[in-house]
Amino acid sequence: MHFNMKGLLIRNGFSLDAKPQPHIYLSLYDAFKRAILNRFLEPDSKLPPSRVLAHDLGISRSTVLKAFDLLLVERYITAIKGSGYYVLCPKNKKLKLKIPSVASKGNYPSLSSRGKAFCENAHWPGEDSNKGVAFRPGLPPLDIFPVQLWKKLMDEYWKYITPSELSYSNTIGLQCLRNNLANYLKIYRDIQCDPEQIIVTTGSLHSLYLVSNILLEPNDEVVMENPTYPMAHGLFRSLGAKICAGPVDAEGLNLNGISCVKPKFVYTTPSCQYPTGIKMSMARRKELLKWASEKETFIIEDDYNHEFSNWEKPLGSLFGMDQQERTIYLGTFNKLIHPSMRLGYMIVPYYLLDAVTALYRQSSRFVSRENQKAMSLFIERDYLNKHLRNVMEVSQERKEIFVEHFDRNLGAHFYLDTSNPGLHVIGHIKAEMKDVALERELLDQNILAHALSKYYVHPTDENGLVMGFCSVNPKQIKDTLYKMGEIITKLHTHPMKYSKDNEKLSD
Ligand SMILES: Cc1ncc(COP(=O)(O)O)c(C=O)c1O
Repeated sequence: MHFNMKGLLIRNGFSLDAKPQPHIYLSLYDAFKRAILNRFLEPDSKLPPSRVLAHDLGISRSTVLKAFDLLLVERYITAIKGSGYYVLCPKNKKLKLKIPSVASKGNYPSLSSRGKAFCENAHWPGEDSNKGVAFRPGLPPLDIFPVQLWKKLMDEYWKYITPSELSYSNTIGLQCLRNNLANYLKIYRDIQCDPEQIIVTTGSLHSLYLVSNILLEPNDEVVMENPTYPMAHGLFRSLGAKICAGPVDAEGLNLNGISCVKPKFVYTTPSCQYPTGIKMSMARRKELLKWASEKETFIIEDDYNHEFSNWEKPLGSLFGMDQQERTIYLGTFNKLIHPSMRLGYMIVPYYLLDAVTALYRQSSRFVSRENQKAMSLFIERDYLNKHLRNVMEVSQERKEIFVEHFDRNLGAHFYLDTSNPGLHVIGHIKAEMKDVALERELLDQNILAHALSKYYVHPTDENGLVMGFCSVNPKQIKDTLYKMGEIITKLHTHPMKYSKDNEKLSD
């Protein structure tokens, strides 16, 4: 990689006005030296070839070579035959990096109350994502994603690209993808919608961010299931909402247990309650739609996991049942395909379309066109359907292996609830140990499992681990569970280390 270094050299003192003119090479030498000592040029970085540099600076190549010779003699740079010139770390010379210290104390404008609220309510489940993926909840089998097929679809996109397709794109998404999504949703979710109501986003959380920003005023009431998705809880709180928690029982969200006056919306995961996995009964769905109508409120249906929860016992969506256009439907491909894809969508009632689109256009503009096009072809050519079948088969296999080896290695310490049809199971802790402390201990050993108590809106006695079982292959599942068993057995013999640890809820 050769940068045009003209600007950097000028900022470090290089000047074509050096007098007498033959001394230009000294000016160049000085400028390089200063740039190296101040670490604008890092040790081992490659300098541009002398011919390129001479061209960029408008000087002769021999002038550049003279400056390089001096730098070589003083060991600021080295020459590697057939490769080029490289910056050296000069011995006995202190290199300075001019980056302001993190603790710098200046007088700056204060954060907005919304900015402060985002900092306070942020939940960071991914902050240690470099520590591996076993058993991070919510990941599909990442190792079976058809990489070569996806690459082919991308190649196809680039092969026929036109210059105008490299320009700005429609905020709400490519027409072809929205048409294919409308068909897909008809078949899988019993949803009849106009493709114009579909907005392509980077995922459910992005959709939720857009919708809640156009709807919520500080102190508005928002109904949430308890337990719930911590990121959604953090988002609504950051926007100043008052959270009205609704208990979850065997039929899903129980409206009788909610105390609120006039909520702006109900956020719900009816297909597969998060994180319990309970599917909302038909009676409760009808009740919820009636209640929303009486309260004149919206419903946000987060259908993050419908492929899994409806595989064996299909049940349509709330959106499909709603006769009053009160439901905003959120879907995502990040949970079925892989989260780094960042592709999701929402269906928005007509009267909210303009506001959502305006906010979207003024923030992240639109989703990468190539991803949208590849996804559109992936659906159209039936690859999605095929991948879905593979994912179901593999996750079922992995769940069986996980459960067998979990019982073998950890059965003494947990009661394992495997009823969730999705991508995780919940291990309820039997012994006197607190899930948040256990989560930390496991993370120290590069094992990810989320503390169940963090999914609750209020402090709770619920105590367990939420564990994804299918992102890694069977061998890794077995090895990691064995290791986890050893860690927990060791902790069990030193109970002080992990007993009740009342950490602030981070949701
Ligand atoms: C309940 C629920 N909704 C939405 C999401 C977000 O999905 P996305 O990656 O599409 O933003 C998640 C992610 O874990 C989730 O668990």
